[in-house]
Amino acid sequence: MMRGMRTRDLGLLLVATAFFSWPAIGNDSIDQATSISGNQTRVSANGIFELGFFKGRTSGGSGGSWYVGIWYANMTEQQTVVWVANRQEPVVDAPGVLRLSADGRLAIIDGQNTTVWSSPAPSGNITRAATASLLDSGNFVVSSDGSRSPESVVWQSFDYPTDTLLPGMKLGVDRKNGIIRNITSCRGAVPTDDPSPGDCIFALVPGGLPEFFLFDKSTPIYTSGPWNGEVLTGVPQLKSQQAKGGFIPKVFWSVEETYYQYSISDPLSRARLVVDGTSKKLQRLWWESGSWKSGNSYPADQCDNYAVCGAFMYCAINVDQSSECSCLPGFKSQGQPGQQPFGPVSSKGCARNTNLTCGAGDGFWRVNEMKLPDATNATVSLGITLDQCRNECLGNCNCRAYAAANVSAGDSPGCVMWTVDLLDMKKNPGVKQYLYIRLAQSEIDSLEAPEKRRRLIRKVLIAVVTTVCSMLLVGCCCCFWRNKTKWKRHTMETRSDTDELPFRARKNFALSPARDHWFDENNTNAEEDLDLPLFDIGVIFDATDQFSANNKIGEGGFGPVYLGILEDGTEVAVKRLSQRSAQGVVEFKNEVKLTAMLQHRNLVRLLGCCIYDNERILVYEYMHNNSLDTFIFGQFIYINNRWYYVVLVCSTNCKCTMLILSGIFYR
Ligand SMILES: *[C@@H]1O[C@H](CO)[C@@H](O)[C@H](O)[C@H]1NC(C)=O
Ligand SMILES: *[C@@H]1O[C@H](CO)[C@@H](O)[C@H](O)[C@H]1NC(C)=O
Ligand SMILES: *[C@@H]1O[C@H](CO)[C@@H](O)[C@H](O)[C@H]1NC(C)=O
Ligand SMILES: *[C@@H]1O[C@H](CO)[C@@H](O)[C@H](O)[C@H]1NC(C)=O
Ligand SMILES: *[C@@H]1O[C@H](CO)[C@@H](O)[C@H](O)[C@H]1NC(C)=O
Ligand SMILES: *[C@@H]1O[C@H](CO)[C@@H](O)[C@H](O)[C@H]1NC(C)=O
Ligand SMILES: *[C@@H]1O[C@H](CO)[C@@H](O)[C@H](O)[C@H]1NC(C)=O
Ligand SMILES: *[C@@H]1O[C@H](CO)[C@@H](O)[C@H](O)[C@H]1NC(C)=O
Ligand SMILES: *[C@@H]1O[C@H](CO)[C@@H](O)[C@H](O)[C@H]1NC(C)=O
Repeated sequence: MMRGMRTRDLGLLLVATAFFSWPAIGNDSIDQATSISGNQTRVSANGIFELGFFKGRTSGGSGGSWYVGIWYANMTEQQTVVWVANRQEPVVDAPGVLRLSADGRLAIIDGQNTTVWSSPAPSGNITRAATASLLDSGNFVVSSDGSRSPESVVWQSFDYPTDTLLPGMKLGVDRKNGIIRNITSCRGAVPTDDPSPGDCIFALVPGGLPEFFLFDKSTPIYTSGPWNGEVLTGVPQLKSQQAKGGFIPKVFWSVEETYYQYSISDPLSRARLVVDGTSKKLQRLWWESGSWKSGNSYPADQCDNYAVCGAFMYCAINVDQSSECSCLPGFKSQGQPGQQPFGPVSSKGCARNTNLTCGAGDGFWRVNEMKLPDATNATVSLGITLDQCRNECLGNCNCRAYAAANVSAGDSPGCVMWTVDLLDMKKNPGVKQYLYIRLAQSEIDSLEAPEKRRRLIRKVLIAVVTTVCSMLLVGCCCCFWRNKTKWKRHTMETRSDTDELPFRARKNFALSPARDHWFDENNTNAEEDLDLPLFDIGVIFDATDQFSANNKIGEGGFGPVYLGILEDGTEVAVKRLSQRSAQGVVEFKNEVKLTAMLQHRNLVRLLGCCIYDNERILVYEYMHNNSLDTFIFGQFIYINNRWYYVVLVCSTNCKCTMLILSGIFYR
């Protein structure tokens, strides 16, 4: 009943107040008349947290060092301290006393009556009914009138974190009230060893986009990545899959206040985020079946180490868990050739292949699935469109990249613009946001070529499958179709001689713009290009005895085949194509030419063709062993301003091979 009476300056009125208010303030609070000393504690209403003195194990004088701290109540297995009031001012002359003084400050007094620690002046006026109470959240609050209403709180322990961020605590800056909240590791492995501040600190670095850094003696060693309005781009998975232990992250960002905070799905479970000075890591922990379980820790891998790859590079974790640095598109390594430019921040990074023109000669190349570069020095303009952002970047000679500042903001996602080197990028498939990297237009053109081709090939394949299916229908009729059909597909893109292919180009299959005129009907050069003999219809008539039935050696789906004997005695096979489609002369010539360019071990050589009126005639070399039954079905497909030629070759034993010629026909 009368435990408050030891305190000095106790007037009669105060005695009365203390007497009547004692039952009201409860076991979780102290007021101006009560104090805590020795092994007395206060426990939050639902018995979750406990506040009192604890003794540091590895520090202090002969009597030890005493600290006022908050720990989990009821956790008999181990005392886990989550907050320390006087981490730098231990009580060495026990016993210590914690009181709430008349001016609203909390004070720790040692055995010599010396105040060893006191809280800053409260942010509002104090009444006699003021209390300091331990809440179930772990927050120790001074309420100016004892009501504990949020408006009455004039001081709270959550504003002065130790090494632990509890659910609901904020980490960041409150510009309106001038409060900076961060967590600092303890010198000891745990606060009960030595709670004095260690080397590691996890804090918001203001400026640019919100971004949280882990420092070791003021050197950044890890960052969460910039907040893009939806995720922290270094740990996007936190958002979707709620880290083990049920952590639900939140970043608040406004002019007045920016902070990180998390909550837990089950409010009764125990979870904490700690800066561990021993491992120099940020560690998530949760309590399960009598012990602390470690969740994610950061940096999580080698790529997480701050700016490990240097400027204009990004880090990626390979399938075998090794990490690798690569230059951004349009940049080249400055390290030794062949040597992985992997190293500390001092790594040389990458340099542009082509210098910027700082004018109309520049463009942007976008990359996706990246932890955004360090954005603490980036320029942010909210509320503008991405087009405006692009223009702003183009208008600034120093601008190296831009991106949306708030991807949640729809059509006006704002702008973040880097006028500094791009540092600390990491490949992360969880980030769905484009970063636009400024490059010389010539670089963009050369980057685009293979990209376009890849997209195209995909389209082509679809078209080819359709085409081939229809071709197969025809093929089925004419080829003596047996049970098994074997398929092979080859894409011939460049002039590279691939001898392992059953086909290869016979002529120079150059990828040259000079071929642009191939499909120009009016171009007279087309004929010169066709260095395949054009047989005169009269020669064919003579050779085949005017297509006499005696000369007919077979009948295929595309028409009859005749034996022909040329004037010089050469035997040829003449395939007289039935009036298949009204194929134009130029198209037919092109097709013939392409077919002629192919060599195949099962394919007879095409010697030439003949065009007369509606007649389309192919002349092959004659082979007695009847390989004439090999059929070639060719078809052109026109996609995205380019022509592709698909050839299906089926032999009598019903083996079909498909060949796609691409990359040679432009329009
Ligand atoms: C304070 O704690 C004591 C013993 O633990 C208990 O008997 C008493 O009811 C508690 N008072 C309040 C107001 O909770
Ligand atoms: C508190 O300390 C006193 C003496 O130091 C001891 O007798 C008492 O058992 C302690 N109480 C608790 C709950 O530990
Ligand atoms: C504290 O421990 C008591 C007894 O072991 C138990 O009944 C109570 O539920 C525990 N309280 C909490 C918050 O864990
Ligand atoms: C501390 O202050 C109290 C009350 O004013 C007094 O009774 C006590 O003697 C003082 N102790 C010391 C060591 O000065
Ligand atoms: C505190 O008291 C002073 C004078 O009594 C008054 O002017 C001031 O407005 C009060 N402040 C608050 C926050 O109530
Ligand atoms: C951490 O917080 C303290 C106290 O508010 C502040 O003085 C210090 O500058 C902060 N450190 C960082 C790196 O933000
Ligand atoms: C590109 O810029 C760098 C630095 O300004 C300069 O040293 C280099 O000569 C430039 N290269 C070309 C090809 O202009
Ligand atoms: C940002 O600017 C500060 C101060 O000029 C500098 O120390 C820091 O290295 C810069 N950070 C980046 C990523 O450029
Ligand atoms: C980002 O966009 C969301 C959705 O419009 C908005 O609620 C939020 O305030 C924006 N953030 C900032 C910093 O403007």
